[in-house]
Amino acid sequence: MLSPGRRFLFLLSSSRRLGNSEQLAYCAAHALPAHDEQQWLNLHDFPLPDFTDLRHGAGYQPPVGNARLLLEATLHATDVVLVTPLYMYNLPGHAKQYLDYWSAWLRTANLNFREQVKGKTLWSIVVGSGARPDAQPLEGSLLLTAAFMQMNWGGMLYGSGSRPNDIQDDARALREAETFFGPPADVAQLLPRKH
Ligand SMILES: Cc1cc2nc3c(=O)[nH]c(=O)nc-3n(C[C@H](O)[C@H](O)[C@H](O)COP(=O)(O)O)c2cc1C
Repeated sequence: MLSPGRRFLFLLSSSRRLGNSEQLAYCAAHALPAHDEQQWLNLHDFPLPDFTDLRHGAGYQPPVGNARLLLEATLHATDVVLVTPLYMYNLPGHAKQYLDYWSAWLRTANLNFREQVKGKTLWSIVVGSGARPDAQPLEGSLLLTAAFMQMNWGGMLYGSGSRPNDIQDDARALREAETFFGPPADVAQLLPRKH
């Protein structure tokens, strides 16, 4: 049974519009109950300046512009969904850059970002032209990121396709999309055991 009143933030990151990953995300979102909120942002519409590591120098100023908008959308959400094509076995640049900004937000005075994202759920919806094992590096990095942030890990919905609309022929992925947004897994159970 789905818990009521979740607020989903869908972050599209493909470099082409209405591509396979975006279409698969619409299929998954279609199954959400009407009382769950949905916000859709395309990261290409909100470009971020190159990320600079200021951890051991000047430190971070409060975010402005698109960074502020993305921060506020992230804080508002209970569930953050990265919708991505598979690029070189991993996240495309815009999605990765958004996550790099989390490192700055964690260290920005008065944001209390870690406390605020703790307990939210991170999900990913991915389409690549190969088979699901090719997306293991992407899935692994998001799982570790969720654990680092003390977030829940929702899981990865994977579909196969190369040309736009190919995803419509991946019957398995379309079927899995219908039930993808179930309850999240306990991230601690999914991490490799520490020796
Ligand atoms: C720069 C680039 C890198 C890619 N790297 C991979 C890859 O490592 N593995 C894979 O299976 N497909 C790869 N692909 C194929 C895309 O993941 C595939 O075409 C996918 O359907 C694109 O999704 P989209 O339509 O949402 O953009 C790559 C495509 C591009 C443009």
